[in-house]
Amino acid sequence: MIIWTVANQKGGVGKTTTTVTLGGALAARGEKTLLIDLDSHGSLTSYFGYNPDSIEESVYSLFHREIADTHMPLVSMLRKTGVAKLDLLPASTALVALDRQIGAQQGMGLIISNALSAYQSHYKYVLIDCPPAMGVLMINALAACDSLIIPVQTEFLAINGLERMLNTLKMIILSGKQSIDYTIVPTMFDRRTRASRDCLEHLQKNYDHIWQNYIPIDTNFREASRIGRPLSLTAPKSKGAVAYESFLLDLIKNHQQSNFMLRETG
Ligand SMILES: Nc1ncnc2c1ncn2[C@@H]1O[C@H](COP(=O)(O)OP(=O)(O)O)[C@@H](O)[C@H]1O
Ligand SMILES: [Mg+2]
Repeated sequence: MIIWTVANQKGGVGKTTTTVTLGGALAARGEKTLLIDLDSHGSLTSYFGYNPDSIEESVYSLFHREIADTHMPLVSMLRKTGVAKLDLLPASTALVALDRQIGAQQGMGLIISNALSAYQSHYKYVLIDCPPAMGVLMINALAACDSLIIPVQTEFLAINGLERMLNTLKMIILSGKQSIDYTIVPTMFDRRTRASRDCLEHLQKNYDHIWQNYIPIDTNFREASRIGRPLSLTAPKSKGAVAYESFLLDLIKNHQQSNFMLRETG
């Protein structure tokens, strides 16, 4: 099982779009994939036609139930997406209260990781869509993942969000977790605007771990979300889908390389 977390403390940078599109691309390649919505806004959940205001069993239930001795803790929560090989663990709007309810309790950082460990043989890939805020959910997502994907909109206001995310990462690494591998992915790139071009250049010059390509602005994303299917399936030849496909291939290559390095040095 390979777990990728998609996070950035800024909203509207393409986290949910990245999660949906990569998930669709993986499913289209025949890989059994699980998408997890950790955002109380439930955009990912709504994308596939579920209502986060009224959904009964969601990821929220995991944090409020004794699951340690449950054999298959997610069984009542998993939902179909209408796409073969692609499942959803939905969010509910109740998640918004989670930090207040359990934030300070010990041992809450590994809830997601532990729950997923029972599903090693069920899913080849898991993609976790994060809320735009640091809290118990993001801590869980970072603790569970093999690698972090940070979408950054190619406009200068988004750089602050990136800085905040990288600082959060440093803090988490200082507080104990081994280093987290991450990739910054420039999103919504619009080559016609100067601001977008300058920002991309700034990112490429000043940041390591940046994917050397970008996700372009593509209006097909809006249409795909209206239909509630990943762009990789509704318009696989569109610019956006092709860019995410190429990003996916690089992520897979990275993963294979870092595993190889671990074997060589371990
Ligand atoms: N590459 C893109 N081209 C055009 N629109 C995009 C692109 N990526 C995301 N969007 C749109 O931008 C909005 C915000 O994206 P979203 O993925 O929901 O961001 P986040 O999850 O970070 O809040 C959505 O309406 C989405 O359809
Ligand atoms: Mg989102």
